[in-house]
Amino acid sequence: MSVPDVTTVRDTITSATAATPYQGDIARYWNHEARPVNLRLGDVDGLYHHHYGIGDVDRAALGDPTAAGYENRLIAELHRLESAQTSLLLDNLGPIRREDTLVDAGCGRGGTMVMAHQRFGCGVEGVTLSVKQADFANHRARELGIDTSVRARVCNMLNTPFASGQAAASWNNESSMYVDLHDLFAEHSRILAPGGRYVTITGCWNPVYGQPSKWVSQINAHFECNIHSRREYLRAMADNRLVPQTVIDLTPQTLPYWELRATSGLVTGIEDAFINSYKDGSFQYLLIAADRV
Ligand SMILES: C[S@@+](CC[C@H](N)C(=O)[O-])C[C@H]1O[C@@H](n2cnc3c(N)ncnc32)[C@H](O)[C@@H]1O
Repeated sequence: MSVPDVTTVRDTITSATAATPYQGDIARYWNHEARPVNLRLGDVDGLYHHHYGIGDVDRAALGDPTAAGYENRLIAELHRLESAQTSLLLDNLGPIRREDTLVDAGCGRGGTMVMAHQRFGCGVEGVTLSVKQADFANHRARELGIDTSVRARVCNMLNTPFASGQAAASWNNESSMYVDLHDLFAEHSRILAPGGRYVTITGCWNPVYGQPSKWVSQINAHFECNIHSRREYLRAMADNRLVPQTVIDLTPQTLPYWELRATSGLVTGIEDAFINSYKDGSFQYLLIAADRV
């Protein structure tokens, strides 16, 4: 799939041009985001993620915490777990052909897009509110020589320029907590071909707990987001022709990542809220894969 020069589609969302003042806040947040926990992990192999990890920690690879180079090995391990999360998302997209187009809604610095292209050889279109992230992702695609297939643009994922039915699959990798789910799934449903697959990996509050816990409220405040409940996800999908095919509770698989991260020099201060809410059952890390019917 060929893509026009990025400069022809480059657009800037500012507080003045965002669809809502809130989107302006989020654009600003991600334009200024440069936490070492994201950048140093991406530097390991050039895949830049803004999401969390899953899987068992490889203690042998980490080695002795008192031995030289431990912090670098810890960073590499956290990054490996974040890329494992992306691999699981891609595993759930179903069969994808080289001629297909995939859409990454809320693509960040583009790590998931690059991995999707490397796995399927197809075109991947990403949208983010942040011009800085889009530039970063496009620069990285050029460095890798895949910029004819992988492109990020500054755009609201609730109102994308993609044609109806254009996407064989689409996803939100930790980006659905910034938008109304009915609006989001209506747009995914529009751009997905019938039979196409939608996947989200997201934190959500657990309706069995009752209401969002204080930890969930802390996470919302920290990231300026609005975590939805598991019930809201399933309801909004059902209302928008997205029928869950797989639901995986990844909570037990993400806890080791958080417990390891909490021991690192890269802590951001939000680690305890994640660990406590996963442990008290008020928060869950979910993968939902749904068919567009
Ligand atoms: C936590 S980051 C996840 C980035 C990426 N998916 C990843 O896994 O590395 C959240 C992303 O959602 C994007 N986002 C939030 N609201 C958006 C909206 N309305 N339209 C497009 N992108 C949005 C942000 O710009 C940011 O790139």
